Amino acid sequence: MSIISVSSSQGSYEVVIERGILGHSDRAVSSATPAGRMLMVVDQAVGASHGGAVRASLGPDRVAGVVEITAEEPLKRMSTVERIWQACLQVGLDRSGAIIAVGGGLTGDVAGFAAASFMRGVDVVQIPTTLLSMVDASIGGKTGINVPLPGSDRLGKNLAGAFWAPKLVLVDPETLETLPRRELRSGLAECVKHGVIADRGLLALIGSHAELLAQGDRAAIDTLLPRSIEVKRAIVQADEHERGSRMLLNLGHTFAHAIEPITDLDLTHGEAVAIGMCAAAWCAEGCGLCSIEDCESLTRTLSSLGLPTSMPRAEPIDALCDAMRYDKKATGDRLRLVLPTRDAAVVRDDVPPGAVREAWQRVMPEG
Ligand code: GLY
Repeated sequence: MSIISVSSSQGSYEVVIERGILGHSDRAVSSATPAGRMLMVVDQAVGASHGGAVRASLGPDRVAGVVEITAEEPLKRMSTVERIWQACLQVGLDRSGAIIAVGGGLTGDVAGFAAASFMRGVDVVQIPTTLLSMVDASIGGKTGINVPLPGSDRLGKNLAGAFWAPKLVLVDPETLETLPRRELRSGLAECVKHGVIADRGLLALIGSHAELLAQGDRAAIDTLLPRSIEVKRAIVQADEHERGSRMLLNLGHTFAHAIEPITDLDLTHGEAVAIGMCAAAWCAEGCGLCSIEDCESLTRTLSSLGLPTSMPRAEPIDALCDAMRYDKKATGDRLRLVLPTRDAAVVRDDVPPGAVREAWQRVMPEG
């Protein structure tokens, strides 16, 4: 078992990493929140399995109800939050209650936002069951939903939300054994991101164990998890509300957010981030921040994990640049981009539009 403590302005909380902890989650949950009445919000894909294990451990007296949600980006919106609020009311949750989120990043984000806003805030416990949410989304208190963009049928990623620190994060690596391999690889993209921005040793470790990691090898995953979570802890602790260094966690995301909502591209978040990190690297190269070799090395690492490093099909670059404007980090007309350097990453808001267009061009399919 590893325990990583995270301090936040809303109190400190533990990230507990332990194989099999879902089956005896009651003890950790009881010491993290005094709530006697809880609503579980669970991804319907793991409702019976992981949700069932948590529910059995907490017991029917405490789990007053369960809301199953479908973890799809178009459903990460207000109507789903309202469903959760209504379930809270139906089961009689009051301010002393808690929401237990079981699932991936999308489930945790929506459940966390519902918890942040129901009765102006109830406790939330995050129980991530995907690698992506274990190393990234469940830690640091970001919650949120997508918002329809004006005059468009696209959704703006996470444009409404709140910082709402969990009382506890329970990480059970066993849940990764049943996670579809594509989702596992998606989470590995976020681990690569952590390596690029803050721990080049981690990046080297991922590169040298790529095949094992992509297969979900237990020992490789057990080594990776605490190391990647530690990067996330250090960053959110240093800059909880993303006024500075936390923005580095958005490496690749401004590009990714332009392509992820295009539903027929069929990209997972991590796949979009992998392509986005390649675009960011080429953009950095265009700005003289890193070399062509750096871009190629990042591309090789991502591709050895089975992640895409270019677009599945060509998309109009004007539309992609336009969609990037709705990024939360944009200030006025200026894009704020995280770009990798030779040994870390920087936040820049002076990137010439031409360099962004050129970066998109570099990740378009050939021919
Ligand atoms: N997932 C990015 C962040 O937590 O800031």
